[in-house]
Amino acid sequence: MSTAALLALDRILVILVAVSWGFAGGHALVSRKAVPSALLVLAALLATACRVAVTAGLASAGWWFAGEKVTLALPLLLPPALAAAVVSLPRMLRGSFTPLTVVFPLAAAYAGMAGAAVSVGMGYPLAPYPSVVLVLAVLGASAATWSMLTRRGRRGRAWRVAGAVVAALAVAWTGLSMWNARPAAALRLSPSGSVGVSELRGPSGGPVRRFELTAKAATITLASGRRVEALTFNGASPGPALRVQQGETVEVRLRSELADRGVTLHWHGYHVPNGEDGVPGLTQDAVREGGSFVYRFSADQPGSYWYHTHETPNLALQAGLFGTLTVDPAAPEGFDEPVALHTFGGALTVSVAGGPPADGTATRTVAAGTPVRLRVVNTDNGPRTLGVSGVPYRIAAVDGMAVAGRVLADERAQLAAGGRYDLAFTMPSRPVLMSAGAAGLLLTPGSGAAPPPAAGPLLDITRYGGGAQVPERFDRSYTWVLDRLVALRGGIPMLSHTVNGQVWPRVPPAVVRRGEWVRFTVVNRSGELHPMHPHGHHVLVLSRDGVRAAPVWMDSFDVAPGEVWEVALKADNPGVWLSHCHELSHAAEGMTLHLAYEGVRSPFTLDAHNHPE
Ligand code: C2O
Ligand code: CU
Repeated sequence: MSTAALLALDRILVILVAVSWGFAGGHALVSRKAVPSALLVLAALLATACRVAVTAGLASAGWWFAGEKVTLALPLLLPPALAAAVVSLPRMLRGSFTPLTVVFPLAAAYAGMAGAAVSVGMGYPLAPYPSVVLVLAVLGASAATWSMLTRRGRRGRAWRVAGAVVAALAVAWTGLSMWNARPAAALRLSPSGSVGVSELRGPSGGPVRRFELTAKAATITLASGRRVEALTFNGASPGPALRVQQGETVEVRLRSELADRGVTLHWHGYHVPNGEDGVPGLTQDAVREGGSFVYRFSADQPGSYWYHTHETPNLALQAGLFGTLTVDPAAPEGFDEPVALHTFGGALTVSVAGGPPADGTATRTVAAGTPVRLRVVNTDNGPRTLGVSGVPYRIAAVDGMAVAGRVLADERAQLAAGGRYDLAFTMPSRPVLMSAGAAGLLLTPGSGAAPPPAAGPLLDITRYGGGAQVPERFDRSYTWVLDRLVALRGGIPMLSHTVNGQVWPRVPPAVVRRGEWVRFTVVNRSGELHPMHPHGHHVLVLSRDGVRAAPVWMDSFDVAPGEVWEVALKADNPGVWLSHCHELSHAAEGMTLHLAYEGVRSPFTLDAHNHPE
């Protein structure tokens, strides 16, 4: 069984264990019928045995998947469950419902509830304070139950037991909440650091390429004629395609005509100096209506990138505040164009130079023999499966970085949210179709029928390309365990997307020092895909699920449920950098953290106008 399936099964079993022991104990307490009580205990034992087996399976897939179950949930559950099997069950069958018969299934029910609390509110790693509170709550509820059961002649036992359970849960919940609400050391990003983020800015000299981008609301028209209310740069979405030569200095003046929200420019995948990274509350204040901000950086990193607002990005990027950035090492040749995939008003669109976003298939004429390079960027929150049909092709670059991989025929590749693939081929004398789900780009030499969309096998991008040098040792290692837990956001317990059991801004930052090689182990314990994106750096993918990667440099990588990715980052760009899930609703629900260089401080704060997540 896959790790993802085991995780899903465990989520069901944890509830089943608590509920089945609750029924078993409740029935023994109230109705005292031999056979049904015994059957309920047997059912609860079966659920418990299943949970043990599933936990063992998870532990063998990796300690992160089972640590808190092995060290806390099961040690609480197994003693009363075993006692129920050995002590309670034979007595029930004899029809003897003494306190000793009843107390163990009830205690197992309390332990089952504590196990559910661990799964729902704590995850991995174990938080010490809430763990102690849970242990005390289970012991306390069991002891209180015992004393009530042994006090004879009193009525309303069941009610008092229920009262004890509620009290224990209240204590446990308060404990968890207090733990979550403790002062966050994580927020103190080297407050006394010697370098301020605002000092980490781009160059002032060099041959400058200037661009002006004005954020404003506008109605855009898709190729089908459909009109969509959008947020735009200069009235268009995607915004202007920024294209510069390697060696130039890029200067972009951002202005805002947005009344209802701020705006910034984040250069996704591009290693700008930290002060140019466009994260409100961390590297700048969001630009408000009438305001402006000038971004400068050197075009020393050839490849395909993109820019987008980082203020309330889940809303504003989706509404259209994005565009492409291409840095050419030499004058581009042939048909070499950025291709942006974006969902406008529910319709997946393809945007290529020379036309509006096409909701459906865009068509361009390209002469046979022309070198073609499609710089596809996925600006949506979820992955896209790309394919090229009608011609063998290569993925010439992943996330802007050149790779030398084999030729693909009809194969497809999954592109993570935020990621880019450069698809390269020579135009044949018949049409070629780049397909991405419901949308596509048809290149035609002038005649011929469109080929069907690529339908071949899915490429494993971590095994494509290769040739990058893997460091021999690492200066630091961090583990990010991604999970779906109840956590406090704005003081309210909400189902959240967590990293190491915490939500932003409480997730402890990964602290690094300039020059270090840092290894990250990214573990997905949740049931959803997480396209992880560190700002300001690419990561070298070392392995996935223990299988060595080719390796490849990426800045947006899809960690599927149950997967474990090992990636390495070279700390060569000082600053405080946001790192987050690029399914931006997940980022907004907590899955955001910082990569913080020692000695760098940020003077900006998360005030009413800065919402980077
Ligand atoms: Cu596309 Cu925080 O980034
Ligand atoms: Cu996510």
